[in-house]
Amino acid sequence: MAILNILRYPDARLNKLAAPVTVFDASLKQLVQDMTETMYAAPGVGLAATQVDVHKQVIVVDVSDRRDSLITLVNPQIVDAHGDSDIEEGCLSVPGIYDTVPRAERVKVRAYDVNGKLFTLEAQGLLAVCIQHEMDHLQGKVFVEYLSQLKQTRVRARLAKQLRKSA
Ligand code: NI
Repeated sequence: MAILNILRYPDARLNKLAAPVTVFDASLKQLVQDMTETMYAAPGVGLAATQVDVHKQVIVVDVSDRRDSLITLVNPQIVDAHGDSDIEEGCLSVPGIYDTVPRAERVKVRAYDVNGKLFTLEAQGLLAVCIQHEMDHLQGKVFVEYLSQLKQTRVRARLAKQLRKSA
């Protein structure tokens, strides 16, 4: 297992489109294990492969308090969505920034597990928002890119300041 480096917004690699997984092999299992360890260590509630500069459609999510409810989604697709959510979200690639963006309140997702088995998941609330957030990463979209240009400029300025402080 390994802790992977998480790309930080506005790194252009966060805007790459992830390709579907076609082979469910040992290297996929290794990627999922490393992503899981990286997410828990951060700590975060979700991580997309895009964020660790692997451009494959792989997501790990765990919104439980006890950190014992890991969900792995490979090639996820939203097949049904309802309602509007106003849950504030954050992102490991945009540390310290929280905001609400347009999300469905409930989603039905079809995905493969790490072994290549197709399954359907119904999610609501935080889990639903988290899945939509991570699926956006696979499309090269970071949640702050939904915000106004003014807010995005402020976000970039805050992140640049954080980096200078930590340097
Ligand atoms: Ni994120």
